[in-house]
Amino acid sequence: MGGDLLQRIRVHGAVPQHVAVIMDGNGRWAKGRSLPRPLGHHAGMKSVREVVAGCLDAGVEVLTLFAFSQENWQRPASEIEALMALLEEYIASESAELSERGVRVRVLGDRDRLTEGARAAVGRVEAQTADGRALALNLCISYSSRGEITRAARQLAEEVAAGRLRPEEIDEDAIARRLLTAEWPDPDLLIRTSGEMRISNFLLWQLAYAELYVTPVLWPDFTRRDLFEAILEFQRRDRRFGRVTA
Ligand code: IPE
Ligand code: IPE
Ligand code: MG
Repeated sequence: MGGDLLQRIRVHGAVPQHVAVIMDGNGRWAKGRSLPRPLGHHAGMKSVREVVAGCLDAGVEVLTLFAFSQENWQRPASEIEALMALLEEYIASESAELSERGVRVRVLGDRDRLTEGARAAVGRVEAQTADGRALALNLCISYSSRGEITRAARQLAEEVAAGRLRPEEIDEDAIARRLLTAEWPDPDLLIRTSGEMRISNFLLWQLAYAELYVTPVLWPDFTRRDLFEAILEFQRRDRRFGRVTA
């Protein structure tokens, strides 16, 4: 599926090295079918498989998915329980294939707040896929970008107070190295589904120069083809980084 689009992507050349996705619209997808919201989240699992496969096919190196925000803890307990159970289900059903395909999974966020079962599953999939080199898959769960930046600031202050760091050594790189994404380059492309034109506390620092792509498609309907459409649009953009085009 989407082989024609993939061909066009290859002809264009440069593929985004790092793609980030705000997977939104599961609730509306369920509502549109008169189903309970958790069934929308469940349907969204298929789209995760689609984008992982699409990134492997296209040669994207890093895929960062926003799965659950710190603010999402304010949702009804029943929905949170369903999402935690879904995380365990996803890991149980996908770990072997992810590892086979060379996908290295990392979970970014406050894992202390996860249920015990979910936390254990996260540890298992990270260990099982640690050697993956084809694609880095970051799942942002219980994640807050302001929280992450605040932690980095506190860490820098502690290092200065302890005499391990001088204030003049604090530059952009010093901050970036203390974020959860320290290992990876910044996202080149941010995709948000369901038409919402906002960032919702996701990767505020890292998205400084990402190309933004908002699609009305609801997350459970998002396929590999939609990913390829986004990459093609990315390839048409003129990334100037504040300079003028030659
Ligand atoms: C995204 O879908 C998944 C999570 C935030 C966990 P939503 O649940 O936000 O779906 P909508 O926005 O209500 O349609
Ligand atoms: C953002 O979606 C978080 C995730 C996709 C996990 P939300 O649905 O929580 O964001 P808002 O509330 O519309 O900004
Ligand atoms: Mg939403």
